Amino acid sequence: MKTVLVTGGAGYIGSHACKALAEHGYTPVCFDNLSTGWRDAVKFGPLCVGNLLNPDDISHALDHYRPDAVMHFAALSLVGMSVQKPSTYWRSNVVGVLNLLDGMRVRGIANLVFSSTAAVYGEPAVELIQEAERTEPTNPYGATKLAIEKVINDFSNAYGLRAVVFRYFNVAGASPDGLIGEWHRPETHLIPIILDVAVGKRPHIIIHGSDYPTADGTCVRDYLHVCDLVEAHILALERLAEGEVGLTLNLGIGRGYSVREVINRARAVTGCPIPEVLGVRRSGDPSRLVCDGTRASRALGWQPTRSEIDQMITDAWHWHRRGGYADNR
Ligand code: UFG
Repeated sequence: MKTVLVTGGAGYIGSHACKALAEHGYTPVCFDNLSTGWRDAVKFGPLCVGNLLNPDDISHALDHYRPDAVMHFAALSLVGMSVQKPSTYWRSNVVGVLNLLDGMRVRGIANLVFSSTAAVYGEPAVELIQEAERTEPTNPYGATKLAIEKVINDFSNAYGLRAVVFRYFNVAGASPDGLIGEWHRPETHLIPIILDVAVGKRPHIIIHGSDYPTADGTCVRDYLHVCDLVEAHILALERLAEGEVGLTLNLGIGRGYSVREVINRARAVTGCPIPEVLGVRRSGDPSRLVCDGTRASRALGWQPTRSEIDQMITDAWHWHRRGGYADNR
């Protein structure tokens, strides 16, 4: 496998995947509609501007570049927004993937790495979530990703699609060389917002709920460095090339941090005071999501190396202080 079509390759995780692919000798072809991604994040291979809701755009990309595999990142991915706009989320995420998988099927492209999410689990009562845990999403975003997992499963059974499905926990950090990083407009994610406060772009961080059933009352998440995350994707491609037919794996490190703990670590890393304000709960937020990541380690031989919380915040901080991407999409 040498050429990989990366949908959403101009986004946060997709751009880090393109970088890792290029570093491992692949040609990453970025397919992106630039609705949330950035032209300047595409540095490691060609950019094909297109929309997954337009089958002709997909056909053009697949026929022109003839990829051996597809990494599918493109999606609408904001939990809160998905609660407000389920129609947009279902159409974009599910219809888009159907178009992509049909385009792959008719061309005999059988290898897929799909980015799913911890949001498929909803609000599990267990300390560490395993892949066999019940899937009961509490928001439309998680529901669309779970639906896509089922589509992939059906395509595997009927058409021989080979897929590795990753359920991401919370992705953080940035490329240590400062070339690419996390930059959303609008920004909703915890660490970039904290860093906005640190650089003086916002007056304070609002803690969305301090009455959750957790040790300090704030939500707990399992944070994983984006570079560790994309390394798992490279290993997945290798497994697919060796004949792997289907895997569903959690990607996280198995250690949870509360919102308050993350803010405190950011104060230590940046040396900035980072004022906080207590706010109300954000709709659709589960109280605690921490994974048991042993299956991914065993199946792929994957070991995170940069996912210590201070390291993730340090890398994100270096990137954030550079001021992100130019808005030239
Ligand atoms: N939070 C705040 N204040 C903020 C921003 C976030 O308190 O200004 C809190 C959230 O309420 C949540 C935690 O910080 O408790 C983490 O929030 P993020 O928005 O950074 O991440 P999420 O856990 O909501 O979402 C991430 C991905 C989703 C994925 C989800 C799986 O962005 O795509 O993990 O749980 F679905």
